[in-house]
Amino acid sequence: MQRLVLCTGNPGKVAEMRALLPDGIDLLSLRDVELPDDLPETGETLEANALQKARYAFGSSGIPCLADDTGLEVAALGGAPGVYSARYAGEAKDPLANMAKLLRELEGRTDRRARFRTVLALVDADGERTFEGQVSGVITVQAMGTGGFGYDPIFLPEGSALTFAQMEPGSKNALSHRGRAMCRFLDHLAR
Ligand code: IMP
Repeated sequence: MQRLVLCTGNPGKVAEMRALLPDGIDLLSLRDVELPDDLPETGETLEANALQKARYAFGSSGIPCLADDTGLEVAALGGAPGVYSARYAGEAKDPLANMAKLLRELEGRTDRRARFRTVLALVDADGERTFEGQVSGVITVQAMGTGGFGYDPIFLPEGSALTFAQMEPGSKNALSHRGRAMCRFLDHLAR
């Protein structure tokens, strides 16, 4: 069985990625390989951060490592918070405070377009690869729904009447940034 370390301590990400991976993969957490949940991510791009985490974990464990870095890019804010999405409202990385800040910043604005972008980095004995997925949508005027995590309650994907937080997990995965990046990763695995 193929082993793979998922380089994230975020339970929401783990659940979504696990749901898309085939049964034949023995999934390990950072804790399983004796690493902390919050690997350093000091890059200025999603790509740099995803690669930094996967490299670190592969260097330490020697097991193939997959890391995710995700950003929410808001058109009216020039692409912010982007790579700084987790710390948008401060070092506490509080999702409620992040959403409240974003809703405040967009108060009264008609252009509410945004997109989520995920970069997955795979680092293994064959080298390094990245896989990207994105989804466009708009930021709602108030939070709706209790599912998902992070900014999900205020993100309405294009063509949907429901925010990510109002969807079943399978529906979010079918059209989300992370689901799309995972499809590219799975295509690579199948080769
Ligand atoms: P990171 O990739 O863990 O650094 O996440 C960046 C920020 O985006 C954090 O505030 C996450 O909660 C948020 N985030 C990541 N993925 C998602 C998602 O699928 N939906 C909503 N928020 C997300």
